[in-house]
Amino acid sequence: MTTRDIFETMDYGPAPESAAEALAWIATHGPAFGHFIDGSFTAPGETFATKNPATGAELAQITQGTAEDVDASVAAATKAFPKWSRLSCHARAKHLYALARLLQKHARLFAVLETLDNGKPIREARDIDIPLAQRHFYHHAGLAQLRDAELPGHAPIGVCGQVIPWNFPLLMLAWKIAPALAAGNTVVLKPAEYTSLTALLFAHICREAGLPKGVVNIVTGDGSTGEAIVTHPGTAKIAFTGSTAVGRRIREQTAGMGKSLTLELGGKSPYIIFEDADIDSAIEGLVDAIWFNQGQVCCAGSRLLVQEGIAEDLHTRLKARMAKLRLGDPLDKCIDIGALVDPVQHQAISAMVDANTDGDTYRAPIALPDQGCFYAPTLITGLSPASPLMQEEIFGPVLVSTTFRTPSEAVEIANNTRYGLAATLWTENLNLALDIAPKLAAGVVWVNATNLFDAAAPFGGLRESGFGREGGWEGLAVYLKPTAKTRPIKPIAPIPAPAAAPEAPGLDRTAKLYIGGKQARPDGGYSTPIWSRRGALLGHVGIGNRKDIRNAVEAARGAGAWAKASGHNRAQVLYYIAENLSARAGEFATRLGDLTACQPARARAEVETAIERLFSYGAWADKMDGRIANVPIRGVAMAMREPLGVIGALAPDDAPLLGAVSLIAPAIAMGNRVILVPSAAYPLAATDLYQVLDTSDVPGGVVNIVTGAPQELGQTLATHADVDALWSFAGGIDAARLEAASAGNLKRTWVNTAAPDWSGPEAEGRVFLDQATEVRTIWVPYGA
Ligand code: NAI
Repeated sequence: MTTRDIFETMDYGPAPESAAEALAWIATHGPAFGHFIDGSFTAPGETFATKNPATGAELAQITQGTAEDVDASVAAATKAFPKWSRLSCHARAKHLYALARLLQKHARLFAVLETLDNGKPIREARDIDIPLAQRHFYHHAGLAQLRDAELPGHAPIGVCGQVIPWNFPLLMLAWKIAPALAAGNTVVLKPAEYTSLTALLFAHICREAGLPKGVVNIVTGDGSTGEAIVTHPGTAKIAFTGSTAVGRRIREQTAGMGKSLTLELGGKSPYIIFEDADIDSAIEGLVDAIWFNQGQVCCAGSRLLVQEGIAEDLHTRLKARMAKLRLGDPLDKCIDIGALVDPVQHQAISAMVDANTDGDTYRAPIALPDQGCFYAPTLITGLSPASPLMQEEIFGPVLVSTTFRTPSEAVEIANNTRYGLAATLWTENLNLALDIAPKLAAGVVWVNATNLFDAAAPFGGLRESGFGREGGWEGLAVYLKPTAKTRPIKPIAPIPAPAAAPEAPGLDRTAKLYIGGKQARPDGGYSTPIWSRRGALLGHVGIGNRKDIRNAVEAARGAGAWAKASGHNRAQVLYYIAENLSARAGEFATRLGDLTACQPARARAEVETAIERLFSYGAWADKMDGRIANVPIRGVAMAMREPLGVIGALAPDDAPLLGAVSLIAPAIAMGNRVILVPSAAYPLAATDLYQVLDTSDVPGGVVNIVTGAPQELGQTLATHADVDALWSFAGGIDAARLEAASAGNLKRTWVNTAAPDWSGPEAEGRVFLDQATEVRTIWVPYGA
C-alpha cells in the first residue's frame, strides 16, 4: 500500500462519546420529569416522551404543562420579583457568575444530554452550544454588575415569559435567562417539547447555585403551555424564539396587554459569494452556514447567491465537499452531520423538497444509517428567485442556489425576501464588502465568515424575522424599562361647534394634508371645522383616509435618500427647522392659545420647548453612535445604529405642537421618514408646520402629515406592509386593535397608554432614539 493509497482510502475510526453519565442522570432524576417551580421539582403530571432522534429510543417522560402549572410558576416568579429586583447589582452578578461556573463544571454532561435529546453532533454541542451558553452567563454577570452604573434611570420589567425552540436548547435558554436575570427580572421559561432535558438539568444547576426560589421557573409542555405563558396576565414581558407563524400569533394574542415583546423568528438568509472570493474558504463557510446543526438554524445561510462567472466551478467544488461530509451517530466525535430533531421535522423538509420540480437537486452520496432521523446534505441549483424553495424557510440541510451578475443585482436578490435576519458576504475586496453590508436587509451581516455568535454582540432581525436584540447592552436594554414618570394618556375630544351661529369667517382657511413635501387635498374631499375654545372658527382641516396614508407611505418610501444623508446634514436641517419656527414663534404661540385656550405664557413656553427639542435632536443626529462589540475572535462586531425606515406616528393631544415635534424630530434625526397623524383635537398646531418645513430644506417625503381620525389612520398605518414601525401617544386609542393589526409584517410598535410630561427632559433623548433606531451587527475580520 502506498502513502497515496493510505490517504485516499483511510477512514476515520468511530470515536464515540459515552452516553452513560447522561443516561444515569436521566435515570436518577427522572425518568419522568415534573416542572421546576418555586425552587422545587413538581411531581410528573400527564407526560409525553422525549426521544433520541438518532435512534428513536425514548429518553424520558416530560410533563405537559397545564394552565394551573403556568399559574403556579407565574405566582412563584411574581413572589420572588420584589426581593430579587431589589438585590444589589453585585449580588445578582454573583448569582449569574455562579450559574456560569456550574455550567462550566457540568459542561460534558450538558453536551451529551443535548446531543442525545436533539440529535446534533457532539462536536457542536461540546464546542459551540455549551461554551457559548457559559460565555453568555459570564458576560451577563458583568452586565448585571454594571447595570446601574451604565443604565441609570432604568428598572426591571417584572415576570418574563420566555418560550424557546429546539434547535439550540441550552443556548437559547441562556440567551433568554441571562439578560432577564441580569436586569433584575424573574422568569418563567418553557423549553421546546422535543428538547426539554438540558433546561431541566439547568434547573438543578439553579438549585445547586443557591439561586433564590422562584427567580427561575421551568415549565415543560407543547405550544398550548407556551400560549398559557404568553397570554398570562402576570407576565410583563414576553421573549420568544421560534417560527414566524407562532411569532405573529403571539403578537396578535398579546396586543393591547401592555406587555413588552421581543420576537426572534425565522429567516432565509442569503450567502453571497463574489467572484473574487477565496472560494475554498467560502465553501468551508457554507458547511458552517447550512450544514451546522443540520441546517436547523434560524440564521442559516440557506440561500446561496453566487456570481455567475464562478458558479459552475463553485458548485462542482461544493459537491465534492458535500460528498466528504460525515453523517452518522451524533455521539461520534468525528461526525459533521447528526440527526434532525424529530420525524415531524424530517417529514416537513422532505415534503418541501419533494414538491419542488425546478432546478437540479444534488444529494450528497452519503449512506444514511438504517434507523433514526437523518437527511442527506442537499444542494438545489438553478432555482429562480421566486421559486418557493428560494422564499420559504426549509429549516434543514438543504441549500438552494441562484446566480447574480453584478453587486447591485446581488443586493436585489438578497433582499427579495420577507425575512431580514442575517446575511453573509464573501469577497477579498473590502470596499465591496463594506459597500454591500449596509444595503442588505439583515440584522446581522458576516463578512468572510458566517454563523458567528457572541454574548457581547447584538443578534436579531428585521422585517418578518422579528424585532428586539439579544446579546450585549442592547439585549439587556430590552429587559429594562425607563423609570421616568409618566401619566395615563387622557383623550381630548375635538371642540364642538358653538351653539350660537359663529361670526362669518373671512377667508376660507382649509389646511390640506402634507404629502411628499406638497400640500395635498384629502382624497375623500372632506374636511372638518376646527373651533377655538371660545367658539370662533379657526379653519378647517382635511379628513385623511386610507388612500392618503398610502400616498404618504409612497412618498416616504421615495425619500429613502434621507437615511443615507450624513448625521451632520440631518442636523443642519433640524437646526434650520428650529430657526424657522423661532422666527414665527409668536404666531405659533397665538395659534396654540386660540386652539387650547391656555395662558399666553404657557403657549410661548410650548413653542420655546419645541424649538429647544429640535436643537436637541439636531445635536443627537450625529451622536447616536453605535459601538464595537468586544468579541473573542479575530474580528470585531460593529453594532451600527440604523434608521428603521418609515415610521407612522400618532401625536398626543396635550401639547399639540410640542408633542408632534417630539415625535417627528427623533424619527428624522435618525434618518427615518415619518407620517404624522396630528392630534384630532388641535390639528392646526401641526398643519401650521407645513410652511416651516417647506422653508427648512426638509426633502419632500421625509415628513408627511395626514390629519383625520387617529384610530382609523393608525389602523391603515399598522396594516401597511411598507411601514416599518408604529408609534402612538394619541388619546382614546384602542391599543389592542392597533397592535393586532401590526402583526401582518411584524412591524415594531410603540403604542403608549401613558406619556411623559412633554415639556420635561424625560420626553426626549435616548428612549426616543432607541425607538427610532435598530441595531445592525456587522462582523468583520480585524487584527492578525
Ligand atoms: P414553533 O415556533 O412552533 O416552536 C417554538 C416554540 O414555541 C416551542 O417551544 C413551542 O412549544 C412554542 N409554541 C408553539 N406554539 C405556540 C403558541 N401558540 N404560543 C406560544 N408558544 C408556542 O416551531 P416548531 O413547530 O417547533 O418548528 C416549525 C418551524 O419553525 C421550523 O421548521 C422552522 O422553520 C421554524 N423554527 C424557527 C426557529 C428559529 O430559531 N427562528 C426555531 C424553531 C423553529
